[in-house]
Amino acid sequence: MTRIVYLNGDYLPETEARVSIFDRGFLMADGVYEVTSVLDGKLIDFDGHIRRLERSLRELEMSCPISSADLLTVHRELVARNGIDQGMIYLQVTRGNPGDRSFLFPPADLPGTVVAFTQNIPNLADAPAAKVGFRVITIPDLRWSRVDIKTVQLLYPSMGKMAAKKAGVDDSWFIDEAGAVTEGTSNNAYIVKGNRIITRALGNDILHGITRAAVLRFAAEAQFEVEERAFTPAEAQGADEAFATAASIFVMPVVEVDGKPVGTGKPGPVATRLREIYLDEMRKAAI
Ligand code: PDD
Repeated sequence: MTRIVYLNGDYLPETEARVSIFDRGFLMADGVYEVTSVLDGKLIDFDGHIRRLERSLRELEMSCPISSADLLTVHRELVARNGIDQGMIYLQVTRGNPGDRSFLFPPADLPGTVVAFTQNIPNLADAPAAKVGFRVITIPDLRWSRVDIKTVQLLYPSMGKMAAKKAGVDDSWFIDEAGAVTEGTSNNAYIVKGNRIITRALGNDILHGITRAAVLRFAAEAQFEVEERAFTPAEAQGADEAFATAASIFVMPVVEVDGKPVGTGKPGPVATRLREIYLDEMRKAAI
């Protein structure tokens, strides 16, 4: 299937979209991105993703070559042109093509490169993995110390995903120098103890998940206590439940950490309920 993708103002067949070898995204991983999920042909939490994109750009002193209103149009066009009912839109903005390689940033008026494309995932909401849950291993968090900025430097998370695959499990959770969980390779991490939902507080050491913000809001509305603090893998192994959140997995039960079952070793009632609430509420609010 040939997708129609977006590149700097044009909608093109994916085979015709070309970016320069001098693009800073390619040479320096000098770019930021967002992943927005699509359900029923509509965008989930689009405003949240655009706000975080603007923050990532600001933190890197990059200007955005496209307005948020135009980004909404691009997202909707891509959904329509590719007939997406469920899936994701990947959006990337890089510092552009200065025409050569240099460590210095190019002049601020150099236009950035904007790329967006769809990923068609017909069973995104009904993913089989959500019925059995993720099994995770833990590995040291060797990423740079500004992972709150959603940059395209994804080599270490990619290595983490490969480590999980080699171990026969679904994902890796990163561990900081104090022995606590920061987050998953591409998701935020949580444990459940009784009525309490525990997840690491926002800082420079985790991505400020858009799904996280919504899930914590729904959890509080559903009378759960929310405790934002670090937890260790041992605490996760002894918890009633664990789960992970991201635009790509919504709320995903985590049933095993480093070979030890969490709770019953099956998706628990809290993660299952939060997933249902999240999907119901976000579908209603989708645009
Ligand atoms: N990843 N933490 C990390 C390191 C992430 O890469 C992501 C998202 C999240 C969850 O953020 P959100 O809820 O806003 O999706 C947390 C996306 C989905 C990806 O890289 O594909």
